Amino acid sequence: MTAILGISAFYHDSAAALLVDGEVVAAAQEERFTRKKHDYEFPTQAIEYCLGHAGLTPADLDYVGFYDKPLLKFERLLETYLAYAPVGFRSFLKAMPLWLKQKLHLPKEIRKGLKNQYSRRVVFTEHHESHAASAFYPSPFDEAAILTIDGVGEWTTISYGVGRGNKVELTHELRFPHSLGLLYSAFTYFCGFRVNSGEYKLMGLAPYGEPRYADLIREHLIDVKEDGSFRLDMSYFNYCQGLTMTNNKFHRLFGGPPRTMEGPLTEREMDVAASVQKVTEEVMLKMAAHVREETGLNQLCLAGGVALNCVGNGRVLREGPFDEIWIQPAAGDAGGALGVTSFIWHQLLDNPRTATGVDNQNGSLLGPAFTDQQIQEFLDQQGAVYETHSDWDALDQRVAQLLSEEKVVGWMQDRMEFGPRALGARSILGDARSRKMQSVMNLKIKFRESFRPFAPAVLEESASEFFEMEDGQASPYMLLVAPVRNEKRVDRDTQENASTGLDKLKEIRSEVPAITHVDYSARVQTVDPQRAPRFHGVLTKFYKLTGCPMVINTSFNVRGEPIVCTPEDAYRCFMATNMDVLVMEHCVLLKDQQPNAQEHQIDSYLSQFNLD
Ligand SMILES: [Fe+2]
Repeated sequence: MTAILGISAFYHDSAAALLVDGEVVAAAQEERFTRKKHDYEFPTQAIEYCLGHAGLTPADLDYVGFYDKPLLKFERLLETYLAYAPVGFRSFLKAMPLWLKQKLHLPKEIRKGLKNQYSRRVVFTEHHESHAASAFYPSPFDEAAILTIDGVGEWTTISYGVGRGNKVELTHELRFPHSLGLLYSAFTYFCGFRVNSGEYKLMGLAPYGEPRYADLIREHLIDVKEDGSFRLDMSYFNYCQGLTMTNNKFHRLFGGPPRTMEGPLTEREMDVAASVQKVTEEVMLKMAAHVREETGLNQLCLAGGVALNCVGNGRVLREGPFDEIWIQPAAGDAGGALGVTSFIWHQLLDNPRTATGVDNQNGSLLGPAFTDQQIQEFLDQQGAVYETHSDWDALDQRVAQLLSEEKVVGWMQDRMEFGPRALGARSILGDARSRKMQSVMNLKIKFRESFRPFAPAVLEESASEFFEMEDGQASPYMLLVAPVRNEKRVDRDTQENASTGLDKLKEIRSEVPAITHVDYSARVQTVDPQRAPRFHGVLTKFYKLTGCPMVINTSFNVRGEPIVCTPEDAYRCFMATNMDVLVMEHCVLLKDQQPNAQEHQIDSYLSQFNLD
């Protein structure tokens, strides 16, 4: 047996992954255990979980891999600081203590984290090699082009190459400070969202605006070549020398200082978001075209933080030159932990790889699961009132009925997802047909910004009926945005008083208003019985009952909270919010039957999480 542990840590989204004889047996992000969103500390608990799941101790490991090369990254930081000295001195001082304390002594830190029970070598792969490996090795393809688009690793911000059989080879790269990820993050910052987590919000905001600033961005900030490579004009940015992303020159260009966090969202932010989204999509499309031409391959694998831009991904798939695309669900740095394990197994140890036409990610259900017995013991301790259903059929029927009555259902089943999206294992579900569901879920359940759209989880066989997707096309990891088909749309001309700004979201745009964004797009998750058997079961029952093959699927958490992991996390979140129903394995809890339901205060619950 060969056991390989992969670790990503000390930047954001620490994670661990375990590969045994070439199979991914477990992977999880540290934030789910520590309950600190985007936790970047050494992933002690994630490692403990992965090893425990396989019944291993650190001494049983054959290899431990780390997802980037700290010395190279250090070199980049030093050179950048020197180039901008003395202006860069402030961020230098801020970053150095962590580097001197932990990052330059990583092998020691890693051994300490493994309780000094691991004495073999620690393998360091390059950041983009880890992303590329995470994109190609679990993919369904024997041969594919690989494109990684990121903020920055050591020096590389974008790379491409080819995966063939058991080898990946990255042949081209773009280097820091020219970065599509950092450009997007700069606008995320400018629009008052948090860098490294608010990018998703910026993408969600974009459809409210018009891309009025796209020309300005193209003229001043980014010079895009025909092959998709580009240079940024660094005189507008501050991320090399300071603690912010943008500077006054940038602010003057876009009509004033950045929006303050939690300040009002104006037309400017919406238009700025629409503009940078548009430019990002243009670059992605150009790069995809170039990579297709250079490699001559029809399949593409994507990873890196920008590969979470599912609007851009959808366009690359629909308008780009590739027949098929596979995107690593944990496309951000957490996925690097997974990438480094398969890099060691295939690339370094030269173990063969057989592509089966189905991906190797197991629906990304790679985290902890809990038994009915564990759940019931916990619920009994809490004095909770619950039903138990003897079989899945009965449970799914019950839940489908509750959903059809516009109940909001916390749904915790099976192993927790690896990656930022909830895919029906730790999800909050609602009726996609409901007119009120969007605002109820945003404001009374998740306590998040009212402009944010919700995603549909749709039976795979029905996806093309509702969305502009080809028959049989899958999006099992919620990484593609597709337009709602014309025939499912409601003609807005018949509605009075077309709304503007954030009110646009309240308008009914389709038969499934709760998941239709203001530009008629939807962030589709297709659900199939192989990858997501439990979720497929309940969706099928809902379809039979209502004729609607989809539900709203949003992550099981409140704003700023990591997605729930354990029955305890799920119960706490359920009790603190206005969620109506909690389902954990075979157990169903109704809020109005809970004796303690009134005692819980949402304010104190929310106050333990930082706004994201
Ligand atoms: Fe990365």
